[in-house]
Amino acid sequence: MNKLLVSLLLTLGISGLAHAAGDAAAGQGKVAMCSACHGPDGNSMMPNFPKLAGQGQRYLYKQMQDIKSGERTVVEMTGMLNAMSDQDLQDIAAWYNSQKGTIGAADPELVEHGQKIFRGGKMEDGVPSCTGCHSPNGAGIDLAVFPKLSGQHAAYTAKQLTDFREGDRTNDGDAMIMRSVAAKLSNKDIKALSSYIEGLN
Ligand code: HEC
Ligand code: HEC
Repeated sequence: MNKLLVSLLLTLGISGLAHAAGDAAAGQGKVAMCSACHGPDGNSMMPNFPKLAGQGQRYLYKQMQDIKSGERTVVEMTGMLNAMSDQDLQDIAAWYNSQKGTIGAADPELVEHGQKIFRGGKMEDGVPSCTGCHSPNGAGIDLAVFPKLSGQHAAYTAKQLTDFREGDRTNDGDAMIMRSVAAKLSNKDIKALSSYIEGLN
């Protein structure tokens, strides 16, 4: 895992550095059609539409590029980014990054199981803890393009983990980091992790 981390930091981190030139104020003027689903300030009200507020700038930019190119399929956004330039996407990433993400509440019944895996992984199945890449408070490490998770809608997070596990989301790179992390998570694990993450601060 350490070797993997280092090579990731090098490849993702350094290529990420070249793309941190967004202008948040300009971005605000480009998100009118996004607000309907992602919320006027990037805090979506719908559990299956991800919150973008406070998300890492490099991660947001990468996802928009992947959605635009079709590397990541988001049916709801079909064609929406086609007319956007790289500069537009960088500006939008900077704007959502500058907004404050809201935090939800975890289900008290699920917290213990969720926290255990988030902090300690599942040793017996070789699942690493989430904290190494997504940080102990879920803030992520944007230099390495590790997304922020904290406060995200549980329904959205659960769908992503399931999609990674089932191979329906494959834009986690050649190292297949999230596909291998999710491979050994049960539905019960995913439910608990997602609930824990929604309340994480
Ligand atoms: C009709 C609803 C809808 C609209 C409008 C919409 N999106 Fe999305 N967006 C979604 C959904 C749903 C997903 C997550 C799909 C999934 O489950 O993987 C998503 C995912 C994303 C993600 C990835 C978030 C993450 O955490 O990985 C980004 C970034 C994003 N949208 C940006 C935008 C931008 C920028 C616009 C406007 C140009 C926009 N979206 C318009 C529904 C929408
Ligand atoms: C070795 C680093 C690493 C570890 C460990 C890791 N992740 Fe990730 N995770 C990533 C990367 C990189 C991405 C972004 C992939 C991409 O570019 O689409 C990601 C994406 C995600 C996403 C999608 C976020 C979004 O907004 O769509 C979720 C959810 C997630 N991880 C949850 C977890 C959980 C839960 C664990 C622990 C069981 C975990 N991750 C462990 C690196 C890691």
